[in-house]
Amino acid sequence: MAPILEIADLKERARRRVPKMFFDYADSGSWTESTYQANESDYDQITLRQRVAVDMTNRSLEATMIGQPVSMPLALAPVGFCGMQWADGEILAAQAAEAFGVPFTLSTMSICSIEDVAENTKKPFWFQLYVMRDRDFVGNLIDRAKAAGCAALVLTLDLQILGQRHKDLRNGLSAPPKFTPHHLWQIGTCPSWCLAMAKTKRRTFRNIVGHAKGVGDLSSLSSWTAEQFDPTLSWADVEWIKERWGGPVILKGILDAEDAQMAAKTGADAIIVSNHGGRQLDGAPSSIRSLPAIIDAVGDKIEIHIDGGIRSGQDILKALCLGATSTYVGRPYLYGLGTAGKAGVARMFEILKTELDITMALCGERDVKNLGRQNLHAAFGEKIN
Ligand SMILES: Cc1cc2nc3c(=O)[nH]c(=O)nc-3n(C[C@H](O)[C@H](O)[C@H](O)COP(=O)(O)O)c2cc1C
Repeated sequence: MAPILEIADLKERARRRVPKMFFDYADSGSWTESTYQANESDYDQITLRQRVAVDMTNRSLEATMIGQPVSMPLALAPVGFCGMQWADGEILAAQAAEAFGVPFTLSTMSICSIEDVAENTKKPFWFQLYVMRDRDFVGNLIDRAKAAGCAALVLTLDLQILGQRHKDLRNGLSAPPKFTPHHLWQIGTCPSWCLAMAKTKRRTFRNIVGHAKGVGDLSSLSSWTAEQFDPTLSWADVEWIKERWGGPVILKGILDAEDAQMAAKTGADAIIVSNHGGRQLDGAPSSIRSLPAIIDAVGDKIEIHIDGGIRSGQDILKALCLGATSTYVGRPYLYGLGTAGKAGVARMFEILKTELDITMALCGERDVKNLGRQNLHAAFGEKIN
């Protein structure tokens, strides 16, 4: 079999092994998918400054994220339905992240629960919170994440209502999934996925079923999730959530400099420059294009992380050079999971690490913490060096 050398190789393998409706769920953006595509292609608008005859020995990729040591400035972004890409996907990804030495973020809309992941990992992971109308349930989720020893709360601000994703509508993807003959055919053509899924008991949103009022089984789940995202979410909510949690908070989904200023005022520990992987406001700029204005506005006030479109270690380097202190990937690790479960996620980490390391060396830097605009040749048509 051909070697797996880049994230695109993982994506192609996942496409063959994961039922179409779940693969499409990962590989989709809202409406025309223009923002989803721009997230990736805008990285090509940044060129690197090559240096030569510089000592390239003893390189280090180690960094910190909100004060926590990481083996490289990268975390796994929260991804809903992860356990449908591969059986027990959240547990496997969390274990791979733990072994690699970077944070795993568990989504509210995960298949494996907070407790499932805590029981199957040794180090603290992060928990991502969606704000639901049922505030008792939200409070409860926060308490459960605290009890599980989660080391940070990632509060997502860009999904008060759901962006329309055409592939999901065409595939009839629902929560919980429907099993029409069409869906069963898709699943039946992926035998290794089926086999793994048959062996696990985790096949529904286990953070929700049995925890939210009136959601005792799958039949009540679908209408509950459709109604629950809270369109009234405001900055005042960030205050009470911060207080109830009492630990490090990261605000996710900031794309605008004014919003970044509001976010910095909340006293949060970091923001994630993100457009939800192009799944919400189609037509919004890519994350990487949005980064410089946000750095100018609040780069000296709050830690700035970024996600969206990162498909190589070079992309990570470019984001760091433009001023982000850290990065996240979503789809790349889903493709790793779909390819080979935990081993596939581990392979994804190795690919990104090698690409970052070699690129950094060829830019004449030995420590990831020293990367900056001095390592760029040009960005978005503007010459830098
Ligand atoms: C399939 C899928 C599901 C997602 N689910 C969530 C979620 O439950 N919560 C959340 O905050 N973000 C979610 N996101 C957004 C990711 O956290 C992240 O912002 C995005 O994937 C980054 O872009 P990338 O996939 O290009 O790396 C999801 C993204 C994808 C692709």
